[in-house]
Amino acid sequence: MTTRPDTSPSARFPAGRLAFPHRDLTGIGRLARHEILFLLAEAQQWVEFSRQASKHADLLAGLTVINAFFENSTRTLLSFEIAGKRLGADVVNMHAATSSVKKGETLIDTAITLNAMRADAIVIRHASSGATQLIADKVDCPVLNAGDGQHEHPTQALLDALALRAALGGVEDFTGLAVTICGDVLHSRVARSNLLCLQALGATVRLCAPPALMPAGIEAMGAEVFHDFDAALAGADVVMMLRLQQERMSGQFIPSPREYHHLYGLTRKRLALAAPQALVMHPGPMNRGVEIDSDVADMLERSIITRQVEMGVAIRMACLDVLTRGRRGVEGWA
Ligand code: NCD
Repeated sequence: MTTRPDTSPSARFPAGRLAFPHRDLTGIGRLARHEILFLLAEAQQWVEFSRQASKHADLLAGLTVINAFFENSTRTLLSFEIAGKRLGADVVNMHAATSSVKKGETLIDTAITLNAMRADAIVIRHASSGATQLIADKVDCPVLNAGDGQHEHPTQALLDALALRAALGGVEDFTGLAVTICGDVLHSRVARSNLLCLQALGATVRLCAPPALMPAGIEAMGAEVFHDFDAALAGADVVMMLRLQQERMSGQFIPSPREYHHLYGLTRKRLALAAPQALVMHPGPMNRGVEIDSDVADMLERSIITRQVEMGVAIRMACLDVLTRGRRGVEGWA
């Protein structure tokens, strides 16, 4: 028999809506540390729930969730779809390639259309930074950012924090933890959301990229900036690798993938520079042999890449649940 999860807000957090007083999830930058911890605590129950043979709850029964993806996605789209379905919602996926976006419809008209269909939550992925907020301003239901341009990818940072917490034996406070994020930081919404989230949880974040792929002035966000990967790795507890986002590059940013791998690829030899049991992370999709070697990505005892994917579903279930509580008339949230 399926055990129904206890969804009552944990006693550690302010009661009801005060635990998470936002209608939308557009970025980690808008969240306080205790709000991040609240979402992580809520997600924990869905990790256990998803490990059961029968995994169907009816919390969101009767609600319509629209996943509007204007950019390609495998993990994020699938996990939002699975999350919505696991909670009993009617989930509809809109792919930009087959939508009227291709016919020249503006983003605002698309938003108004989705709103007229009375969606109860809209999940957006879009190539433009700020697109999620633009849509959020036009609709009446919660909007969740599934990645907007180079800006933010909040559920990715949350799932990364949850995976890290699990790998560290349940540690909630990351104070003293040094996390090295290496790759195409310039084009990475994952790097930005993770920088904000990891710092909020107490970690020190080192960003490493070739000069052309490092955003100017990122030090102002509290990161330690490196261009030498070996130096960035020294003693790091966690190494998070990023893909080269070719689709966002106009022109040549790196000499060649081979040269890039030579300077910034995570090899076993390089990983030895990090702390003895350093963990390896990657949001996917991976370009094996470019930013990460297969024997590192697949290291059973060190790589938590598949754990990240597992946590993705739990985090998205938590976010869909929390953000729709008001509409569902959950006590204290209406
Ligand atoms: C990332 C994204 O789309 O921002 N992937 C993901 O969501 N898992 C990173 C990437 O595409 O490289």
